[in-house]
Amino acid sequence: MQTFNDLEIVEGKTKILVPPDSVNAKVPPKEPAFFNPRARLNRDFSVIAYSAFIKNFEGPKIFLDGLAGIGARGLRVANEVKNIEKVVVNDLNSSALSLGLRSAKLNNLSNYEISENETCRFLSSYSKKGSRAAIVDIDPFGSPSKYIDCAIRATMHGGLFSATATDLQVLHGLANDACKRRYYGIPVKTEYGNEIAIRLILGCINMIAARFDVEVVPLFVENEMHYYRTYVKILNKPIQQEKMGYILHCNFCGNRTTFEYQSNVCSLCNSKIVMAGPLWTGQLFSKKYVLSMLEQIPNCSVDKKCEKILQRCALEAEMPGTYFTLDEIAEKMKCAPLSLKKAINKLQNGGFLASPTSLNFKGIRTSANINELKEIFAS
Ligand SMILES: C[S@@+](CC[C@H](N)C(=O)[O-])C[C@H]1O[C@@H](n2cnc3c(N)ncnc32)[C@H](O)[C@@H]1O
Ligand SMILES: [Zn+2]
Repeated sequence: MQTFNDLEIVEGKTKILVPPDSVNAKVPPKEPAFFNPRARLNRDFSVIAYSAFIKNFEGPKIFLDGLAGIGARGLRVANEVKNIEKVVVNDLNSSALSLGLRSAKLNNLSNYEISENETCRFLSSYSKKGSRAAIVDIDPFGSPSKYIDCAIRATMHGGLFSATATDLQVLHGLANDACKRRYYGIPVKTEYGNEIAIRLILGCINMIAARFDVEVVPLFVENEMHYYRTYVKILNKPIQQEKMGYILHCNFCGNRTTFEYQSNVCSLCNSKIVMAGPLWTGQLFSKKYVLSMLEQIPNCSVDKKCEKILQRCALEAEMPGTYFTLDEIAEKMKCAPLSLKKAINKLQNGGFLASPTSLNFKGIRTSANINELKEIFAS
């Protein structure tokens, strides 16, 4: 086992021992153990999301982290999520695991265990009915796709499965063959590429789950520059309603729709359209769950940004899929962009649904199509 001089940091309410190079180097090294200080916001969201989930969860409150590194997420869950009974963190790197154990001692945690195994072997040992976990997380380097199957099997009925993806180039259309292999669908390059990426990940989770009669219900999604995170509820029952389809995008007029079937022609201007998918076309958020996350904020030690982002999630939760950006509309109309507030007011006064979106601070969701939107903005 490697040894190294470690550094004590505090994230949220938790003391974490980390390899010094992980906070000093531009890109955190994988050796002797991986820790990314820039992923703090996503761990903050985990603490909020899991606290909201566990509060209303009946059954053994066990959290499994399949790819834990030095255990940053697991340590925070064990220390900061009220009523969590047991956290088991797994990794192949024994140096990372023993560093995590020392952090656990530093925080006087008695609910933190380690496992040194390959992720799918680890998760498979929890796949039997009766031994499944309330919450399962996978946070790999790159794509989560190869771990989704065993992660879902290790999550109990009514439990929560969260996953990170960092293979942004693949999800953003720079390697469509790889995207099809990993996620079963392809993206198109648009202003709302992050939403397409999230829908591809959710579509892949849904297709894998459907193979063994499991329904997934997205509760919350979030993204920053370098990652995507999805949180879905697992229900052991066949899918009731098909929520897979395509995003149809017209590069000529800017029209965009989510649709069950493939199509070649823009419904507004008859131009040839581009198509992303197959992907998830259902809701990205559960409004009730997002509101319960907001309720948890005063109890959590998290970045102020979290509350602002969650407020947007609550507003957009029941809005149509795909958003417009104010900059692209302004470019099409050859004028300066409206402020977000003004744009939303104009649309609402014009009788359309309109909200901001957490996925882009200059983005709006609306029931208006591109032509209606331009007309309203010009008025
Ligand atoms: C992105 S890091 C995890 C970061 C961690 N979740 C956090 O919040 O700090 C991915 C981890 O997966 C581990 N890993 C990679 N492939 C693995 C495998 N097949 N089985 C178990 N662990 C693996 C690596 O050792 C690394 O620590
Ligand atoms: Zn068109």
